[in-house]
Amino acid sequence: MEARICVLPGDGVGPEVTAEAVACLKAVAERFGHRFHFQEALIGGAAVDATGDPLPEATLELCRASDAVLLGAVGGPAWDKHPRHQRPESGLLRLRKALGLYANLRPVTVHPALEDASPLKPEVVRGTDVMFVRELSGGLYFGEPRSYSDQTAVNTLPYTRPEIERVAKVAFELALGRRNHLVSVDKANVLETSRLWRQVVDDMAPLYPEVKVQHAYVDSFAMALITKPREFDVVLTENLFGDILSDEAAVLAGSLGLLPSASLGGSVGVYEPIHGSAPDIAGQDRANPIGTILSAAMLLRHALNLSSEAQEIETAVHQTLQEGHGTGDLKGARHPQGTRGLGACILQRLGAAVSQP
Ligand code: NAD
Ligand code: IPM
Ligand code: MN
Repeated sequence: MEARICVLPGDGVGPEVTAEAVACLKAVAERFGHRFHFQEALIGGAAVDATGDPLPEATLELCRASDAVLLGAVGGPAWDKHPRHQRPESGLLRLRKALGLYANLRPVTVHPALEDASPLKPEVVRGTDVMFVRELSGGLYFGEPRSYSDQTAVNTLPYTRPEIERVAKVAFELALGRRNHLVSVDKANVLETSRLWRQVVDDMAPLYPEVKVQHAYVDSFAMALITKPREFDVVLTENLFGDILSDEAAVLAGSLGLLPSASLGGSVGVYEPIHGSAPDIAGQDRANPIGTILSAAMLLRHALNLSSEAQEIETAVHQTLQEGHGTGDLKGARHPQGTRGLGACILQRLGAAVSQP
């Protein structure tokens, strides 16, 4: 098949990790006889420096004209003092909103070879397989009114019934294809928005009689997630809670650098690792590319309907970890590698001819 893939490398480690993911997509295309056309565009701090805008119109147009978007990360200390609309993060938020991406899928699994990589006990993390469904285009991130002065600042947490319904539908349907268990995470003991969230999920539950629905308060869920992670299957939550809980869940997997995501809901999806631009290790060939490579696998599955090809990438990653390869963030890796070295290991398993760096 032919597909147009827009690549937004962004800032910090973004260009390093997207380069490895693009190489994997090229290897898969070669092997399966597909033609992927890659086009790069600016986003984040790189776009601010070049154009003054973290999401230039040309970038948005290219995304809209593509079949999928692969993104690295945005942000960094160089832009932290910029006003909100000229911050790299605003570019990413506008992109999600403009493309109508309301459902962010963040799968978290624990690879058997990495049970010791987590600071948590192996018997706690073993067998974890959780799918977070994070609402992505509403809540505190976008709520109005919002304002800032040096005396008072305001953010607002609105959700409407249709906004909750559409993301909950994604979570219920995912649960049907998994272990039929949904936990909806909120703060309904304090927040009106959460009370509505809980009500909407309860109203929808009869439509999915096979799915066991539970509700949890975000504070106690944050603890349960790292004490009994195997109890969870699909976790549905609002934008900010999902942001925080998915970084917490990365501790189960062994590193933030491992986790991929897919942002869905509109006609073009964005596929990106859950981590940020990691300024502390940027430009040093130290970033773990696996989160982005697995995001490329999600792109193949969700955007292009190429599940065998996606599986091929996932298997190559699995084998690479099984054999003890890993970047420095993976504690106890028997064969430490840089970003490019680890990418090359995965590429080799995809059947690509690569020269080891
Ligand atoms: P971060 O995710 O960039 O880094 C947190 C820690 O995890 C750092 O120690 C970093 O070195 C490590 N880490 C992250 N990715 C890694 C990888 N692939 N391999 C190995 N280690 C990795 O979070 P932060 O430091 O809080 O934020 C840095 C910048 O990134 C900020 O500007 C923030 O706004 C931005 N950010 C962007 C995104 C995104 O683009 N989606 C996500 C989160 C943060
Ligand atoms: C993420 C990031 C973003 C978010 C920031 C950079 C806007 O933390 O993708 O998890 O909060 O959604
Ligand atoms: Mn985040």
